[in-house]
Amino acid sequence: MTPEQIVRTFLTHYHRLDHRDAPESSLIPPPGDPVLFTTSGMHPLTPYLLGRPHPGGRRLANVQRCLRTTDLDEVGDRTHLTVFDMLGSWSLGDYDIATSLRWGHQLLTEGFGIDPNRLHATVFGGDDQVGPDETAWRTWTELGVPVEANGADNWWSNGPTGPCGPDSEIFVWTGDGPPTGTPGTDDRWMEVWNHVQMRHHRHDDGRLTPLPLLSIDTGMGLERLEMVLTGGRSVFEGAGLSPWVEAVQDRWTLGEEELRIVADHLRSAAVVLGDGVRPGNTGRGYVLRRLVRRALTVLWRDDPERSLTELPDDPYADAVRRFRQAAAVGPLRDLLADEERRFRGLLRRGRPLVDRVRARGPLTERDYHWLHDTHGLPRDLVDGLLDEAS
Ligand code: SER
Repeated sequence: MTPEQIVRTFLTHYHRLDHRDAPESSLIPPPGDPVLFTTSGMHPLTPYLLGRPHPGGRRLANVQRCLRTTDLDEVGDRTHLTVFDMLGSWSLGDYDIATSLRWGHQLLTEGFGIDPNRLHATVFGGDDQVGPDETAWRTWTELGVPVEANGADNWWSNGPTGPCGPDSEIFVWTGDGPPTGTPGTDDRWMEVWNHVQMRHHRHDDGRLTPLPLLSIDTGMGLERLEMVLTGGRSVFEGAGLSPWVEAVQDRWTLGEEELRIVADHLRSAAVVLGDGVRPGNTGRGYVLRRLVRRALTVLWRDDPERSLTELPDDPYADAVRRFRQAAAVGPLRDLLADEERRFRGLLRRGRPLVDRVRARGPLTERDYHWLHDTHGLPRDLVDGLLDEAS
């Protein structure tokens, strides 16, 4: 199945169940939102989960591009991406968790044809404020899916405050032989879908109060589902990442993990640029800058002459189209080329300065400040140069 077919199958399933399409947002949340990027399908729906009526009704579904910096250090493994598409469904005060899980199970097994024996679920086991999720446990047991209870891992929130609640996660077995162990004991169980009961509101002082509506929010990673359905070994073999992997591999020799980091970070940077973010030293611009610099740092480890300008247009055009963006590829690549030039210049100026300071002994906080304030060298860049020299 292609990603396009997967999206169609997902939305058709929910349309048949009377869900309407929720509009997709950009990666940039509206002004005043405390979170830098849209991190999940529920993020733009926060006001509605807090009780405002949604113009599309009480049953919604969509596909939403998301960015997660929390997973940045995990990128390079088989399953983590910085920017990805999330398939989502919502009940805004309508049906309950048992219904959501049953419809989800039906879609995975009948709609997508996943062998039911390759599924495992986890549920919230309770803590000192909220009891265990017995409904989800019972539902999975009735469906014949093995289930494991956890604590904080099965509590979902989009930040320190806002709507949150117990979640039930669905894992698919990605090992070669028959399934063994549980998601907690064997990482070949890959999480694909998360059904959250948005029942609580976390306030600034940490207090939980009940939300006016008992809602359900679900999110499934498109690239992971594609991996399951195509029998791929990693999300990097999927249609969305392979143009990047191939373009990078055609030009440069990299180890597998490095190749994945470069492919993920360049694709993510392209999509972030496509939503109008520009490189900068704070906030979103800094996240973008870090993505580009991390990719370049990996590329330059073996050969500092490598340049992003050597890559073809195709992966950029593919990313922009795939994430339903209107950006033109030319200007986007010009911005990346400028950013690369700037980084190269900083490293050229920074290297002798860092060497000089280092010769006097380990760097102090004052050294870092001096390098930053007088020479414009950020701490992570200095640390990179120190690593390079050691
Ligand atoms: N909000 C949940 C998640 O991101 C489900 O959509 O996993």
